[in-house]
Amino acid sequence: MKREHLKYLACPSCKNDLFIDLIEKETNNKIEKGSLKCPKCNESYEIINFIPRFVPLKNYAEGFGLEWKLHAHTQYDSYTGVNISEKRFFEETKWPRDLSGQLILEVGSGGGRFTEQAASTGAIIVSIDYSQAVESNYNYNGDKGNVIIAQGDIYNLPVKYGYFDKVLCIGVLQHTPHPKKSFMELPKYIKAGGSLVIDIYANKGIRKLFNTKYWVRPITKRMNPDKLYTRCKNYVEFMWPLSKFINKIPYIGKNINWALLIADYRGRYNLSENLLKEWAVLDTFDMLSPAHDSPQSLNTIKGWFREANLDNVEVVYGYNGIEGRGIKKKDLVK
Ligand SMILES: C[S@@+](CC[C@H](N)C(=O)[O-])C[C@H]1O[C@@H](n2cnc3c(N)ncnc32)[C@H](O)[C@@H]1O
Repeated sequence: MKREHLKYLACPSCKNDLFIDLIEKETNNKIEKGSLKCPKCNESYEIINFIPRFVPLKNYAEGFGLEWKLHAHTQYDSYTGVNISEKRFFEETKWPRDLSGQLILEVGSGGGRFTEQAASTGAIIVSIDYSQAVESNYNYNGDKGNVIIAQGDIYNLPVKYGYFDKVLCIGVLQHTPHPKKSFMELPKYIKAGGSLVIDIYANKGIRKLFNTKYWVRPITKRMNPDKLYTRCKNYVEFMWPLSKFINKIPYIGKNINWALLIADYRGRYNLSENLLKEWAVLDTFDMLSPAHDSPQSLNTIKGWFREANLDNVEVVYGYNGIEGRGIKKKDLVK
């Protein structure tokens, strides 16, 4: 982090301003190793590899750290040459392309493919993730003048309340221990009149029973992530020729592949054969490894938005299952 990034961060517990307590190593005007401190709580937070850390390095999201280390760029448009992340970011947020002068908080940024998109708007982005994925995000976006990356927890975000024009949390809520509690944290950080965008896996009732990933997850989510990743990779490699054949079965081919736990994006995304396989390995692991995977119904998400007392609410089936947008009311305090 740069010294001037400090003003965008706050103590995760009491929201007080932090100060730079120690700089052990500074490279190109960036603090590579050191620590931040809260004068009120007296709590210290390490800066490791340029990234301030507000949570233990090892936690329930370890699998995500591995996922985004091994697939750091797999879903980046700048790597695939196809505008999949750009399309999803702007269609899902409905935000304008130019957000210069605005502040965006991204919660659960993973490898940072949407950080790249948010940064393209000219806004200042504070991107936070619980896992070591912050390292991959930093490698791609950390040098951008408008991106600040920190390792933190949705339940105790290291930023101030009522501070951001926009908050983005996509692909994340279902992977937290208490999705509703996680959701309820997010509006606190938005300025009055600011925008919240989330998405979450959809629970379509009885159909969940036929989703085969939930049959094997009780075992796979407990496996060592490295071992599970190797198994997923070998499995996709082995199944790939067969899945190509299955995909050609009219109407049901793609569904059969997903039921066989092959994340089959053929025909959906215009990617080369190698990239399709890379996406399949990533998403097969992504289905099986997370400690938490709690899809929600459309009505439940509508209820959360109502309870959060947001305006202009739109909750619909869309990207990732269900997408939700709302505006924080002008008279709402925290
Ligand atoms: C499926 S990834 C999505 C990453 C990115 N938003 C995307 O769509 O490419 C889910 C991310 O949520 C993060 N996450 C899980 N629990 C979290 C928490 N309590 N606080 C912040 N991030 C969390 C994980 O570490 C992981 O990187």
